Formats: sequence, C-alpha cells, structure tokens
Amino acid sequence: MLAGKRILLIIGGGIAAYKSLELIRRLQDQGAEVVPVLTRAGEEFVTPLSVSALAGSAVHRDLFDLTAEAEMGHIQLSRSADLIVVAPATADLMAKMAAGLAGDLASTLLLATDTPVLLAPAMNVRMWQHAATQRNIAMLAADGVRFVGPEEGDMACGEHGPGRLSEVPDIVEAVLRFFRAGPLQGRRILVTSGPTHEPIDPVRYIANRSSGAQGTAIAGALAALGAEVVFVTGPADVPPPSGVEVIAVQTAQQMLEAVEAALPVDAGIFAAAVADWRVASASDRKLKKSRDGMPVLEFAENPDILKTVAGMAQGRPALVVGFAAETDDVVAHATAKRLRKGCDWIVANDVSPETGIMGGTENAVVLISETGADVWPRMGKSEVAARLAERVAQALGAGG
Ligand code: CTP
Repeated sequence: MLAGKRILLIIGGGIAAYKSLELIRRLQDQGAEVVPVLTRAGEEFVTPLSVSALAGSAVHRDLFDLTAEAEMGHIQLSRSADLIVVAPATADLMAKMAAGLAGDLASTLLLATDTPVLLAPAMNVRMWQHAATQRNIAMLAADGVRFVGPEEGDMACGEHGPGRLSEVPDIVEAVLRFFRAGPLQGRRILVTSGPTHEPIDPVRYIANRSSGAQGTAIAGALAALGAEVVFVTGPADVPPPSGVEVIAVQTAQQMLEAVEAALPVDAGIFAAAVADWRVASASDRKLKKSRDGMPVLEFAENPDILKTVAGMAQGRPALVVGFAAETDDVVAHATAKRLRKGCDWIVANDVSPETGIMGGTENAVVLISETGADVWPRMGKSEVAARLAERVAQALGAGG
C-alpha cells in the first residue's frame, strides 16, 4: 500500500515517543521507507540507536553543529519525502510551526518544505486545551496541516482528557488515507449500521437480528475510495471497519442524536436496522417477577432517522440512501418506501428466511432510484458494498 513512499518521521519529546518505534515498524510493514528525525527532547525518551536500528537508516538528530552543507542535505531530505509525520507532536513543536520558527532541525525541516504534514499531537490535557495551543492548531489546520488525534483517556501524568497520542494503527490508517487518492477523497459520508437496543429495564432490551455486516462493509468500501466516513453503529456482531470514525450508540434516539451531530455530510447511507418502537416508560430498576407480576409493555414510536435527514429543509446531504428489508413484492414495496421516506435511493434486500440473507454473508439487492429498479445479481456483502460505494462516487461527481 505504501510501497515506494518515503515518510519523514519527526519524533518529538514526550512520554508517548516510545510508540514511534512501533509506528516505524508498522509503516514499514506497509512498504514505506521511513526516514527518522529525533528532536533533542525526543532523545530524552527514545534512544537514537533504537530509532535507527528499527528504521534501518541513520537517525537525523537535532544537532547544532551541522555544517552548512549537511544542513542543506537535511532540507533536501524533507523535500524528497512524500509525507512528513510528526509523532508525537508536542505543543512546543506545533507552536514553532505555527509561528514559522526554524531554530532547530525539526522546525527547519518543517519550514523549508511544502511536503504535506500529518501531526499526531500528544501532550498534557491542560496544554492541549490551552487557548494558545488551540489557536496554533487552528492556524496550522488553515495552512493545510493534517491531524490525527489526540485521543481522550488517562494520561501518564495522572490526568484524564484529550491529549493522548493516537494508537499506532490509527496513525498508520491516517497515513494510508492520505495516500489513498480515491474518487471519494474530500467527501464526508455518514453510515448508520447494526441493530438498536431499546431498554425494557436496566438489564433487558428489545433488539433485532441485524449483524451490522452490510453496513460495516459499506463503511469500509467508502473509506477505501478515500471518503472520510462517520460510522454510527448500534451494538453489532461484527467489529467496525478500520479507518472510519466510530460512534457507538444503543438506542434509536441516541442514533438520531449522533447522526445530527455528524452533519453536514455529502452523503448519508442508512443501513441500520433501527427499532421502530421503544418501550414507552422503560423502568429504571429491574422488573421483579414477585413484586411486579406480569409486565405489560407499552410502546412509543421511535424517530425515523432516515426520514428526518431526507426531509431536512437545510443541510440535507446531496445523496440520501435508505435500506429496505422486504419479504415479498420487493420492488413495489421499496419503490413506495423511497417516496415515503423522501430519500434518493433505496437499497432493497429480499430477507425471506429461505434466502439466508439476514445474518448471512451474501445479499441480493435491488437499487431503487428515481430512474427505476436496478436488479443486482446475488453476491457477497463486500461486493455489494464495493458496488454501492462506486455508485455513490459517481453520484457525487467523483473527485470534485
Ligand atoms: N430507518 C431509520 N429510522 C427508523 C426506522 C428506519 O433511519 N426509526 C431507516 C433504516 O435505516 C432503513 C430504512 O429506514 O434505511 C428502513 O425503513 P423501515 O421503515 O424500517 O422499513 P423496514 O424495516 O424495511 O420495514 P417496514 O416497511 O416493514 O416497516
């Protein structure tokens, strides 16, 4: 995937610098050539020897005794890279970048090139939240610098919050995304997936048999074409794809809130099997046989997420795709559903038990649009996903 790509990896100072060693390996696994640069502060956390041993090349260090000639060589180095990754990117290094300072090797390299830059910030939560850091980040983002992370969590300093270096697979994925010049690059696409769980009481819920397999495959296929994917998923059987932003929810109500928060998007693909009803007054304590007798559940209607988004007067995605699970008269029902929901396309699946589609690996799909019904042959769910992603790219005027 990264064969022939040269990545200049600048390792800043911070407790998370140890992860950069793993990052070197994982980038190499993808075929990249990694040229390491270790800042003086970085040397306090990882040794030049371990970095150069892993990278298989000399590590460029923050020395001030460089001859002019050698310094020119270093600058050449940053220009010949296809991407510069800074991990961890400290508050100090980002401040230098934002201000255009070039007082040391790392900042000189960053200033002396127009090679794209990906920053993986890591710092104490207060430093991250400080107005100065946020100001620098806004300036860097406006300059076209890309970011991955930071993550939220427990920090080495004992505090909790945003500021943790992203995990190595996430940094690698961000690098892959950068090089994936697919037709959906620059497009932001929302995918809902999986079932929802509607609570009866704190331990019981109403659910359905959706595995989340089709929605997961679609999200992965869209990401593979370069899209930035927001993946809002109920409790699914299959793990989410890599390279997407995952927002995990339980209920239909939470799914709607997550979807609304993810807008605006260029396209919305609503593959979730959302429960149509929830228990009207879910109990906040466990229902007891002895005390409560036979429970009588009253239902309330859940919000229709697809219909809500498809009907938005302002900020409606350019393409809204719904799903229909039908057992008979698939085309007629799905065509009526497209109009009822106000969406552009309906992906209709025949889920009669004898098809084995619900929970299976294959799907038989009819794509209903304004122009009619397009019957696809039965194929694997990942092939359905790839084909749908291609159609989405065409509809959005790929690459624009
Ligand atoms: N959907 C939704 N929010 C709901 C219910 C459904 O977003 N509360 C979306 C689903 O993600 C899917 C489509 O609407 O894209 C399915 O519509 P739905 O009315 O649930 O149809 P079916 O489940 O196929 O069943 P039926 O027509 O029998 O109700």
